[in-house]
Amino acid sequence: MSRPTRRLLDHARVVTMTPATGYGLIDEGALLIGGDNIEWVGHRAELPMDIIGEAERIDCGGRLLTPALIDCHTHLIYGGDRANEFEWRLQGRSYAEIAQSGGGILSSVRATRTASDEVLLASAQRRLQQWLTDGVGTLEIKSGYGLSLEHELRMLRIARRLAASSGLQVRTTLLAAHALPPEYAGRADEYIELVCREILPAAVAEGLADAVDVFCEGIGFSLAQTRRVFEAANVLGLPVKLHAEQLSDLRGTRLVAEFGGLSADHIEYSRAEDLAALAEAAGVGVLLPAAFLCLRETHMPDIAAMRACGLPMAVATDHNPGTSPCLSLRYAMNLACTLFRLTPEEALRGVTVHAAKALGLADRGQLRPGLRADLALWDAQHPAELSYWMGATPVHALWVGGEALR
Ligand code: NIG
Ligand code: FE
Repeated sequence: MSRPTRRLLDHARVVTMTPATGYGLIDEGALLIGGDNIEWVGHRAELPMDIIGEAERIDCGGRLLTPALIDCHTHLIYGGDRANEFEWRLQGRSYAEIAQSGGGILSSVRATRTASDEVLLASAQRRLQQWLTDGVGTLEIKSGYGLSLEHELRMLRIARRLAASSGLQVRTTLLAAHALPPEYAGRADEYIELVCREILPAAVAEGLADAVDVFCEGIGFSLAQTRRVFEAANVLGLPVKLHAEQLSDLRGTRLVAEFGGLSADHIEYSRAEDLAALAEAAGVGVLLPAAFLCLRETHMPDIAAMRACGLPMAVATDHNPGTSPCLSLRYAMNLACTLFRLTPEEALRGVTVHAAKALGLADRGQLRPGLRADLALWDAQHPAELSYWMGATPVHALWVGGEALR
């Protein structure tokens, strides 16, 4: 269907997120969409008449207009669920214990390997609707429940199909080093060689991965094994990110800094000097408060240290069937505020500007001319409302690349 090349969103409270601090709020604002991009944004009284031309005018009725949100860390594609483990954990078993006895990630691996492409796609598509109703325009999806050449690539292909069928922007991350597959039990280094020599190059050859991730943890892979995967990613020109310091401090955050990686994620146990090294290396710290909540963790990420060294903080759902069955990025924003004491402004920056940076994307996350027209219009007046409401879906409209999705 053809659409007008220019559309004017008029009478909006525009949240540009362009200043380094503050929302960049414009009352009685307007924004002109030209094709896929933002052509003009500012006070409506200053709209240059000559650039409006034939634009279709949409009255925003004073609603809040923000960049479409960005969820920079999800494991959206998997077979089955793990509600049983939720019960076990509430009865006192820990995440690590369940993982060591063959449950945890490996139970999702079994369910994912045996599910057909169509079943995996349909279940992910169903979940994805929640991101749409939450004003999300871009989300990252990791593999990591396949753990073989065949099944890791299959997950990434399904992620690409999801992008095509939903209209949302999807960034894919190869997380083949998520857990040790049962057929490699006791041979972790051999599995890491398979990841580096076969899975990674095959994903690159098919254009399936935008980044590479590893679960660096006592119940995951060691720092040395993580380094090996990062080196292989480096040779192939793929940026790295890391599940780092979720349950203990293995110095993964420092390794991300050393490799100039995009982000270290979880980072509850990261020490201040490693967070500072990450900031120095222009990386991002990704906070995942829903996983923290579900695991009933008590070791808080060092937010004060992150602020002190100027580490950009992103916020994401970490949606996955084990530690974070969280279907709402705005709920993750709420948790970032209530659990980690982020300000609502930091939470919003964490799902816009800093989430874009965590994915290596310079073309979105703010409202200014030349960036993608990825926009969310909210039944809200104050930007803090996006973190404040729990369980509501105040999104009124969503545009991705100038295309109306809602
Ligand atoms: O981000 N910690 C490792 N990976 C996921 C959990 C995956 C799972 O339990 O299935 C996370 O929390
Ligand atoms: Fe994760």
